[in-house]
Amino acid sequence: MTKKIAVLPGDGIGPEIVAQAVKVLDVLKADGLDIEMEEGAIGGAGYDAAGDPLPDATLKLAQDSDAVLLGAVGGPEYDKLERPLRPERGLLRIRKELNLFGNLRPALLYEELADSSSLKPEVVAGLDIMIVRELTGDVYFGEPRGIEERPGPDGKPERVGFNTMLYSESEVRRVARVAFDIAMKRDKRLCSVEKANVLECSELWREVVIEVSKDYPEVELSHMYVDNAAMQLVKWPKQFDVIVTGNIFGDILSDQASMLSGSIGMLPSASLDENNKGMYEPIHGSAPDIAGQDKANPLATILSVAMMLRYTFGDEANAKRIEEAVKAVLTKGIRTVDIMTAGGTEVSCSGMGDAVVAEL
Ligand code: IPM
Ligand code: MG
Repeated sequence: MTKKIAVLPGDGIGPEIVAQAVKVLDVLKADGLDIEMEEGAIGGAGYDAAGDPLPDATLKLAQDSDAVLLGAVGGPEYDKLERPLRPERGLLRIRKELNLFGNLRPALLYEELADSSSLKPEVVAGLDIMIVRELTGDVYFGEPRGIEERPGPDGKPERVGFNTMLYSESEVRRVARVAFDIAMKRDKRLCSVEKANVLECSELWREVVIEVSKDYPEVELSHMYVDNAAMQLVKWPKQFDVIVTGNIFGDILSDQASMLSGSIGMLPSASLDENNKGMYEPIHGSAPDIAGQDKANPLATILSVAMMLRYTFGDEANAKRIEEAVKAVLTKGIRTVDIMTAGGTEVSCSGMGDAVVAEL
């Protein structure tokens, strides 16, 4: 059966990087991969096209597809819009509507890029961490939320802003299972990151993770407070195998982990529902400062396609084919500006896409 992929380029550098990933998919298609692709508007592009960062047509397209490939959303021109119309809301809504609670963010260092990391090569060499970030709960979605007036210290009204950090047992349980399952396929070590010394929400998180661990006796489970985890990630990142954490902590730690691997332009992600239907996107944002200049790094997006093949289509052979092509390009010293190393050859965003295609 033909697999359908919804392609949502979004804003900023989104269209440039997604175009490179589509070139890669076109090669696999020409070689027999049975897929069809259809484009939809999301984020600021959705607002421009239909007055909504997640237009109904785009949501329907995503629901009717087997997988979604997304670029990035957001841009300064949309910052003045009312909150529900902002591009980021489109992204958060599609994650929620598709129930994509399990966000896999691998931080892997290609040895060729050891010099691009801001950390010493010996600290990051051989790095291979999988961050499992919960993606549809936490302060991102918890109610109540808002900005309202309340009496201040002097009795006069002042504005307060508030969000609710909230996790239910079932939400923690299902993402914990995803993380334990992944740990079973790796080095069987899982570190659960929270802030249980201060937050009730984290206290519950820890209890539920411990309950789930009873079903995975082979996995060595540890717990770490998020502040310590941030420190350990730069001190000795290789101590981690799989990390499982909530939405906001995972957002922050995955950006941090990306720097271990040289550039945020290298990190792909998969966001999965219970049935491994998924949305695939680079972890970086829309980078409005370099949009339209053909210099963004498309590798995170191309590597996201490899994750799509692996996790949603169960096609390990084609996933490896893409990953090996990327590795070969890096070995040849071909570099976008963000990962430039001494002696490398600088290429544009489309030049990088072409180089990967040539390797395929
Ligand atoms: C990410 C991004 C998003 C998030 C933003 C753009 C809403 O930072 O995917 O990590 O916070 O989840
Ligand atoms: Mg983020």
